Amino acid sequence: MDSYVRGSLWTTLLFLTFPPLHSNPACPTSCLCDSPGEVRCGGYTITDTPPSLPLHTYTLKLNDTNMNIIKEQSLAHQDLLLRFSLTHSHLHTVHARAFLAAPQLKSVKLSSNDLSTLPAQVFSPLTTVEEIYLDGNQLETLAPEMFEGLGDLLVLDLTRNKLTSPAAGIFDGLTNLTILNLGRNNIKKFPKNLFRSLSKLRLLRVYNNELESLEEGVFDELVNLEELTLHGNQIGSLAPRVFWSLAKLRTLTLSGNRLQAVPHKSFYNMPELSKLTIYKNPLLSLPNELMGHMPDMREFYLFSTNLTTVPGNLFANMSGLLRLNVHLNVRLRELPPDVFCCLPHLQKLSLRNNNLDNLHPHIFSSLTAVNILLLNDNSLRSLPGDIFQNLTNLTAMDLRNNNLKSLPGDIFSSNTALKALTLSENPWDCNCPIRDIARWIRNNPHVVVDIDDVLCHSPLYHMLRKVSSLQDDEFTNCDGRTTQTPLYEPEKTTHESTTSYSTPRMHTSLQPMDVIPTTPLSKTTSSGATTRSVSLPPASTRKQVRSSSTPRRHKSLLPLHVIPTTPLSKSTSSKATTPSVSLPPASTAPTILLDILLIEQVPEYVHHNHHRGWVYVWFLPSDTDLLGFLTFFYILLLVAGLLLVLAAMYGMHRLGVALEALKAGCA
Ligand SMILES: *[C@@H]1O[C@H](CO)[C@@H](O)[C@H](O)[C@H]1NC(C)=O
Ligand SMILES: *[C@@H]1O[C@H](CO)[C@@H](O)[C@H](O)[C@H]1NC(C)=O
Ligand SMILES: *[C@@H]1O[C@H](CO)[C@@H](O)[C@H](O)[C@H]1NC(C)=O
Ligand SMILES: *[C@@H]1O[C@H](CO)[C@@H](O)[C@H](O)[C@H]1NC(C)=O
Ligand SMILES: *[C@@H]1O[C@H](CO)[C@@H](O)[C@H](O)[C@H]1NC(C)=O
Ligand SMILES: *[C@@H]1O[C@H](CO)[C@@H](O)[C@H](O)[C@H]1NC(C)=O
Repeated sequence: MDSYVRGSLWTTLLFLTFPPLHSNPACPTSCLCDSPGEVRCGGYTITDTPPSLPLHTYTLKLNDTNMNIIKEQSLAHQDLLLRFSLTHSHLHTVHARAFLAAPQLKSVKLSSNDLSTLPAQVFSPLTTVEEIYLDGNQLETLAPEMFEGLGDLLVLDLTRNKLTSPAAGIFDGLTNLTILNLGRNNIKKFPKNLFRSLSKLRLLRVYNNELESLEEGVFDELVNLEELTLHGNQIGSLAPRVFWSLAKLRTLTLSGNRLQAVPHKSFYNMPELSKLTIYKNPLLSLPNELMGHMPDMREFYLFSTNLTTVPGNLFANMSGLLRLNVHLNVRLRELPPDVFCCLPHLQKLSLRNNNLDNLHPHIFSSLTAVNILLLNDNSLRSLPGDIFQNLTNLTAMDLRNNNLKSLPGDIFSSNTALKALTLSENPWDCNCPIRDIARWIRNNPHVVVDIDDVLCHSPLYHMLRKVSSLQDDEFTNCDGRTTQTPLYEPEKTTHESTTSYSTPRMHTSLQPMDVIPTTPLSKTTSSGATTRSVSLPPASTRKQVRSSSTPRRHKSLLPLHVIPTTPLSKSTSSKATTPSVSLPPASTAPTILLDILLIEQVPEYVHHNHHRGWVYVWFLPSDTDLLGFLTFFYILLLVAGLLLVLAAMYGMHRLGVALEALKAGCA
């Protein structure tokens, strides 16, 4: 930096003015003199500065020594010394007049020692000093006049001490200071006008302190500030316009504080800002006008907040963004339709681990440059068919662990560059509406990277079947019926699904599951014989009762309890009243003739059939393809047997008819 340049200038001057002398003292013991002008010493034998240094030594570095005290004479006779450092040496005392002997010093470094106090005016002889490092000590207070008269000071490092409240006026007069580091102290509050002289300050670090608020005007004179780090404090409130003078700011960190709100227009007038952090604050809302023009912002993070939504224009002024990470906001439920309107260069958008349950059809319409889109670990229930239409550069998309039951068949048709897509951990419903997307999945096995884990969740007889194994001819019943998922239906089905999966779902332990698929049969009218009054839910809510307790994974093999009860009121006895039994359409709802089916833990493979009102459910404790095949084969055999019996009966019947005919002929 500046000081180095000046230091070396000085040295060059010194070299030029003093011709080499021949009585040059040798390198002191326990020291190294390998770089010109520099002596480095270390070791427990060193208890004070070496008695004599080679000529032209302008840097003396003592590290890891036994020198606990800088005595009045320690620095005497070192007239040419410009840089003095004594570090990692358990230094606890500096004599009040120690620096009187070396007023020419430009740099004093006393880092990583045990200083808990310093004499009030110990540095005042150093009228031309440019750097003072006191980081890594135990300093709790500093006298108000500690840095008085040090107008040339450029760097002051007080990091890692125990300062609680800098004295008012302590930095007054440091008009040339460019770097002030106060990080990792216990500062609770800035006295008024603390920074009023520091108009040349470029870097102010106050991270990891205990600041509780930022009061009006505190930074007003810092017109040249480029970096302000305030992360890791307890800041709960910001005065409006507290940053408004900081027109040259490039970095501002406010993450890890206690902000629940940020005043209107807080980040206006910072056209050079390229890093802004406000994540890890319990933000409840953000104002409609917050971010001024900041075209240099390349990356923005907004996570671990309590936001439920964000203003529609939050990112509108960050036109240069390449990466935007709005994730891990467990309450973030919705995003305004035009929130990503103005990000033509955005390449990566992460919206993972929020609580989003639907997305506006045009929300991504202008993100033509995006190639990575993360939507996993949300509560998305459906996606509009053209939502990804304009994402022509998309190569990777993550849709894992949502609440998706189906997708429009052509949803990815514009994403020709797509190479990696994940779809697992969604409760896929393998009824008619899934036909088209199932076909797309089957035809794109290399795009769907988790294809073997994309499993049917319903209907029951398809449970845990791979969606990619569904064949077109299994959907022959579907034609003529609605085979499309409804597009963007904001809050129609609230009752069933608002609570479903509303808890953070990253853990997803296996819980007991109650599946209660009740068929919407109208009760048989007559014949009081068996009418067990089956209470039937309204048809609209019948699909997934109590879906909230449905486990998301079905991996382990655990016992199954099936409690089949008499399913239908047995209307067989009643004579002509049968039309009242209206079966659901075979395509939309499976004809599971059950009242209550309790499956406490889901097995790997379930099969059932029903006979005379009883339902037989069994399961096979394995998921191998072989077992699947065997089961299929078994069913095939059953069907073949049935056909044989029918054929035999038909044969008997024909035989009987033929015999009758023969008899008649004979007669
Ligand atoms: C100074 O000493 C400490 C403690 O032994 C050591 O960790 C550090 O690396 C040393 N620094 C230099 C510049 O030699
Ligand atoms: C600040 O530094 C400039 C040169 O960089 C010097 O001329 C000026 O005297 C310094 N200010 C003070 C108050 O010493
Ligand atoms: C964007 O920045 C300009 C200039 O700073 C400002 O006038 C405008 O209100 C900002 N827009 C938003 C949405 O904050
Ligand atoms: C923010 O959310 C966290 C956890 O989600 C909660 O503990 C905290 O109380 C919330 N804070 C506010 C201000 O709502
Ligand atoms: C895709 O972009 C075009 C042109 O900008 C726009 O008219 C259309 O609405 C966008 N489509 C979607 C689905 O957002
Ligand atoms: C899409 O990607 C290609 C190559 O990676 C790039 O040249 C093109 O500019 C990108 N399109 C947009 C709209 O950014």
